[in-house]
Amino acid sequence: MSKIVTIERFILEYQPDYARGEFTNLLYDIALAAKVIAHKTNRAGLTDILGRAGATNIQGEQQQKLDVFADDIIFRVCDHTGRLCAMASEEREEIICIPEQFKKGSYVLVYDPLDGSSNIDVNVSIGTIFGIYRCVDWDLRGREEDVLQAGRKLVAAGYVLYGSSTMLVYTTGQGVHGFTLDPELGEFLLSHENMRLPDPPAYYSVNHAYYHRWSPAVQRYMRWLQGSEGEEEHAKPLSFRYIGSLVADFHRNLLRGGIFCYPAETKKPNGKIRLLYEANPLAFLIEQAGGYASDGANSVLDIEPTELHQRTPFYAGNRSLVYQLERYLREEAGQPVSDLVSGG
Ligand code: AHG
Ligand code: MN
Ligand code: MN
Repeated sequence: MSKIVTIERFILEYQPDYARGEFTNLLYDIALAAKVIAHKTNRAGLTDILGRAGATNIQGEQQQKLDVFADDIIFRVCDHTGRLCAMASEEREEIICIPEQFKKGSYVLVYDPLDGSSNIDVNVSIGTIFGIYRCVDWDLRGREEDVLQAGRKLVAAGYVLYGSSTMLVYTTGQGVHGFTLDPELGEFLLSHENMRLPDPPAYYSVNHAYYHRWSPAVQRYMRWLQGSEGEEEHAKPLSFRYIGSLVADFHRNLLRGGIFCYPAETKKPNGKIRLLYEANPLAFLIEQAGGYASDGANSVLDIEPTELHQRTPFYAGNRSLVYQLERYLREEAGQPVSDLVSGG
């Protein structure tokens, strides 16, 4: 029989020393917020019966949309604990400073409270993504530069998937570990220890409707994934899967092997995926699982952010798949491809 390990015990017993204390408690906070959001998302289909989001409820209070609700829960769980010096959320224009009445801490939390929000109304999996940095200057209250750090400086990152079950997957730079929520116990239990990207990969994920907005190299790459382009044609093409919830697409590909792509488009050279709240945390996770995440030219984790809501083209998955994309884009730009590692 396998051992039963809660997320709390796992962090305490199996994570590095620095991950104990304040930092451990911060991960508990996120797990708590995840449980509250999971409870609410499970009732989302009842809004038509119990009151619509955006409508006024029976007490005369305005009902919140789920993404605003999730944003608010994460903020309220984390603002007063003394563990953070700043937060930044996809849902808010400015950085979130810790209210003056509370003690400030030494960590920074960035988050996408509800990812895949267009899928809420159709009962398809959604998620939450988070990243944790150390603040730049421990003596000062949070400033924008605390949040505008390269992904390489993340000390932890993860996501919560609200799917057929709720899962929390995270890394502190010591592998990727997944926990499944037991709704009766209200506990996240270790279910996927040390997740590694399988090889050969099974899936690729991209919104094919945008095919004509991509550069010829990206179009060529998609044909390569389908097994109809290049000298070393795949013996078997990858299967195509696209949910339209980044967390859900990423999670499936992490378990089965593959690549998630959100390319640059002719009129949107930075694509759609947000660097701070989506790309960086997932790039850290994929590296820890043995993969790689690129903006098409370099590692996503090396981008120095300049704006809170900056976007980036995003390719994350098995190394060999991402390198091939970089190769095609370099060829298109007339750059040498020899220094790119082959295979991997
Ligand atoms: P969010 O709901 O946080 O705004 O994110 C939506 C994102 C992401 O989850 C998904 O991969 C992507 O939007 C899908 O975009 P397209 O509909 O353009 O394919
Ligand atoms: Mn998102
Ligand atoms: Mn979102």
